Amino acid sequence: MTKLRGILTAAAVSLILATGANQVSAAEAEALPPAQDWSFNGLFGTFDRAALQRGYKVYKDVCASCHAMKYVAFRNLVDIGFTEGEAKALAEEYEVAGEPDEFGDPTTRKAALSDIFPAPYQNPQAARAANSGALPPDLSLITKAREHGPDYIRALMVGYEDAPADMTMGPGMNYNVYFPGHQVAMPAPLSEGMVEYADGTEASVEQMAEDVTTFLHWAANPELERRHQIGFQVMVYLILLTGLFLIVKQRVWRKLDH
Ligand code: HEC
Repeated sequence: MTKLRGILTAAAVSLILATGANQVSAAEAEALPPAQDWSFNGLFGTFDRAALQRGYKVYKDVCASCHAMKYVAFRNLVDIGFTEGEAKALAEEYEVAGEPDEFGDPTTRKAALSDIFPAPYQNPQAARAANSGALPPDLSLITKAREHGPDYIRALMVGYEDAPADMTMGPGMNYNVYFPGHQVAMPAPLSEGMVEYADGTEASVEQMAEDVTTFLHWAANPELERRHQIGFQVMVYLILLTGLFLIVKQRVWRKLDH
């Protein structure tokens, strides 16, 4: 009898614990980044070229002052619809370290198509020193490196709010609904009308967040469109092949005695 009571109590306790755990995950679930209808989603998704170019502008004018993108070179900008001349001109806006001169002294030169995007800080120590001790991560692969990828990055950009009264914020920290733990060292990077888009699109925070996320997702998946295209071709090929096999099968079986 006591044994049975023991079992029942254990069951009741675990039920209460499980309900408690559910409550915690319900609270966390509130901070799930809202799923977006991206043009690159799905089997046949492609990147919107205009959004990519606007996104590059946001990265260049805003994010690049803190974040490097060491896997993207200026020549890659041709993939997002810039001409080679335009990409070259964009590269030449930057000065990078050149070959030492004949006395062995360091020189600088204009960046070329083959150069990667210049990093904002000399080293991680300098990056941390300028950002309340936090390291702004390289953004080349960031949409792959975070759960919910593009949805999370976009949400992070628009998720800044005043901290709840009962929350003590660390020095230099900012409240963000979507950042794990809600305290992020990055100050809200975007504000209305911060960049001037060449195509006249209004630069709302929401628009810039979407555009820069599209650009970052392209940087992490430059082969995405090719992959989707090959996937489509393989599917058409397999369907045709299945049809052919059916015809051959019928022909072979027709000749056989049953
Ligand atoms: C003033 C410097 C600064 C600017 C400008 C800035 N960031 Fe950050 N960013 C940071 C720092 C610092 C961190 C690290 C935050 C931390 O770990 O608390 C960070 C972190 C991030 C992260 C990673 C968040 C995570 O989940 O770990 C992403 C994504 C990001 N930034 C994107 C951007 C984008 C996109 C822009 C441009 C629209 C931008 N940042 C502009 C300083 C900056």
